Amino acid sequence: MEAVERPIGVFDSGVGGLTVAHAIRQALPGERLIYFGDTAHLPYGDKSEEAIRSYSRRITEFLLGYDAKLVLVACNSASASAYESLLEEFGDKTLIMDVINPVVEYIASHHYGKLGVIGTKRTISSGTYEKKIRDTSASTTVHSLATPLLVPMIEEGFIFDDISNAIIRTYLSDNSLKDIDALILGCTHYPIIRNQISKFFNFNVEVIDSARIVAQRLKVMLEQNDLLSNGRPGEDLFFVSDYTEYFEKIARMFFEGNINLRKADIWS
Ligand code: DGL
Repeated sequence: MEAVERPIGVFDSGVGGLTVAHAIRQALPGERLIYFGDTAHLPYGDKSEEAIRSYSRRITEFLLGYDAKLVLVACNSASASAYESLLEEFGDKTLIMDVINPVVEYIASHHYGKLGVIGTKRTISSGTYEKKIRDTSASTTVHSLATPLLVPMIEEGFIFDDISNAIIRTYLSDNSLKDIDALILGCTHYPIIRNQISKFFNFNVEVIDSARIVAQRLKVMLEQNDLLSNGRPGEDLFFVSDYTEYFEKIARMFFEGNINLRKADIWS
């Protein structure tokens, strides 16, 4: 197979990375995707850095088994914990991309005064967004807030109801998010509830979701490496480490019914 025809590997703990995979499908219809949702270990946001590193390492090996030309860590928790170590271990075999650096670059090219970031406990406690934004956008202040109930809520399908509205309202009313110019969705699950988040702010606060930003950055990276494909060389494949009906439902929603979903027993 020619190098450009090799697939793009994308992984997350569950359905969150599908928001990014979907944006890649829109921006780069000629690329073939291999998606891995580590539903057996969901949520990553509550796990230790060591655990997330070891899951990410094994999943990257799995994606390399499909000859991925690029592996996208479509999870903020794994981007904060494992991106550097994946780069070190696999950087000579494939391109590796995370979802945090492209957003930090985007912030640096705009001018924000006060920014909010919401994400999992792992992402927020790592301080990755604050550190990187401080280094690249000196006049921007960042206020971050862990919102750990959002991933289980989304994975359980509570999206447009009283439960989700109450949880979203309680988190976003936090004082630290007062008077922000924009809110970064620092978790790839959150674009699924983007409308409810915008609504909470009466659509007055820009909600920055990494999916489109990452897809554009990925395009540039493939172009720079002469790896951009122009005709889809095969069907996308979706793997989960534990089958859930919900994953299938959301994947069908994003990919309009046409998905080839398999369970991959990579942990036994
Ligand atoms: N979608 C993920 C993230 O961006 C994972 C969330 C989780 O599994 O806790 O952080």
